[in-house]
Amino acid sequence: MKEGARISAIPTRDDGRPTRRDVLTAGLGGLGLAALGLGGLASKQIVPQPLVHDLAAPAPPVIALAPTPACVDQPATDPTEEGPFYAPNTPLKTDFRRPGHRGRELVLRGRVLDVRCRPIPGAVIDLWQTDEDALYDNIDYGYRGHQLTGPGGEFEVSTVFPKGYSILGLVRSPHIHAKVQGAKTKLLTTQIFFPEDAESHARDPRFNPRLVVDLRQSASGPPVATFDFVLEDA
Ligand SMILES: [Fe+2]
Repeated sequence: MKEGARISAIPTRDDGRPTRRDVLTAGLGGLGLAALGLGGLASKQIVPQPLVHDLAAPAPPVIALAPTPACVDQPATDPTEEGPFYAPNTPLKTDFRRPGHRGRELVLRGRVLDVRCRPIPGAVIDLWQTDEDALYDNIDYGYRGHQLTGPGGEFEVSTVFPKGYSILGLVRSPHIHAKVQGAKTKLLTTQIFFPEDAESHARDPRFNPRLVVDLRQSASGPPVATFDFVLEDA
């Protein structure tokens, strides 16, 4: 760094007066501006700068940056079979947790989007899952319910991690079922999985690696699973 090229406010000595070196430093800064045809600026008050400019240094190379990726289209979420435990007419519900449950709590959130990456507000998202004992409740709507997405297509539900099960010899890795539909989209029926269940994924013929949530620990609450559902146009 060439000190003479520094543009800065004139610092002072301990007695409050500027030193000779300080004055020279500020003056050379003004010469630099004059050489650039900006002499008018030199006569004005020099504003303190948060950054130090070295006018004598060669210009930094121009680095061609790749454009920021923008989502212009994306594949629709893969469908998966409905399974035998779907129940229609579920209640409007964003908290599935039963009082006194023994499950490991979880927040599931995400967005509902179209294939052009636009959020779909007012989409219906109906979720159902097993409880901490690997049971579906088809009578009292336990651990199942629907909600409408918000203005940004967002949804969130407080629940517990589902338990895996086996039915008629079919191993099922822990999953949450979903039916999702916007006003102008096809109905999506699918299931989402959890990254920590790799061992049972390998034994579940319904498992799809594209349907795995992003799962993160939270310092202030339960782990947060995130998944965006992408719907095809009707
Ligand atoms: Fe299931």
